[in-house]
Amino acid sequence: MAEIHGAHGYLIGEFLSPHSNHRTDVYGGSFENRVRFALEVVDAVRAVWPDELPLFSRISATDWLEEGGWTPEDTVRFAPLLKAHGVDLLDVSTGGNAAGVRIPAGPGYQVPFAARVKARTGLPVAAVGLITEPEQAEKILSNGEADAVLLGRELLRDPSWARRAARALGDEVRVPQQYHRSL
Ligand SMILES: Cc1cc2nc3c(=O)[nH]c(=O)nc-3n(C[C@H](O)[C@H](O)[C@H](O)COP(=O)(O)O)c2cc1C
Repeated sequence: MAEIHGAHGYLIGEFLSPHSNHRTDVYGGSFENRVRFALEVVDAVRAVWPDELPLFSRISATDWLEEGGWTPEDTVRFAPLLKAHGVDLLDVSTGGNAAGVRIPAGPGYQVPFAARVKARTGLPVAAVGLITEPEQAEKILSNGEADAVLLGRELLRDPSWARRAARALGDEVRVPQQYHRSL
């Protein structure tokens, strides 16, 4: 798969949010104008990315601002447009565009933002952020809150996490022969 990074205050996210987008041309102002650049990037990627391969898009579902920022409702409104332009899955993160905001980080704290998009739009979503335990990850999937879970730091701490999780959840553990005596 390929993923277009539109989150965390990088360029696409800066266009999306009224907090950072102060343009007065067709790329600024209204919601339709602010999402224009993101959709043009999706179109350009989809034009060269094989149809049979998945295209993901990462977004910050909220700027965590009380006022004047990108909101979870904006994300719900934006998701069907991404789908119509050929995005197969929305990878839902948050933050990174506005400095000095309070982010209530805790286990799975961004999952509700992904679940909201999935429930309201039907677009497949991935959840990310402080997902560290196999049972926690499995519950997010089995509850129908997300279609995929993504891990960052826990995979840095334990590159064998997927193997450990499969084992913990009683799944079949398929590994190269060199690993057999380490199971
Ligand atoms: C060292 C490091 C580098 C990262 N680089 C990226 C990146 O290039 N692109 C991205 O979308 N997220 C990046 N992230 C954020 C992670 O993808 C992830 O969203 C974040 O760490 C929260 O998930 P976690 O709690 O599982 O780590 C990075 C995180 C870390 C710790």
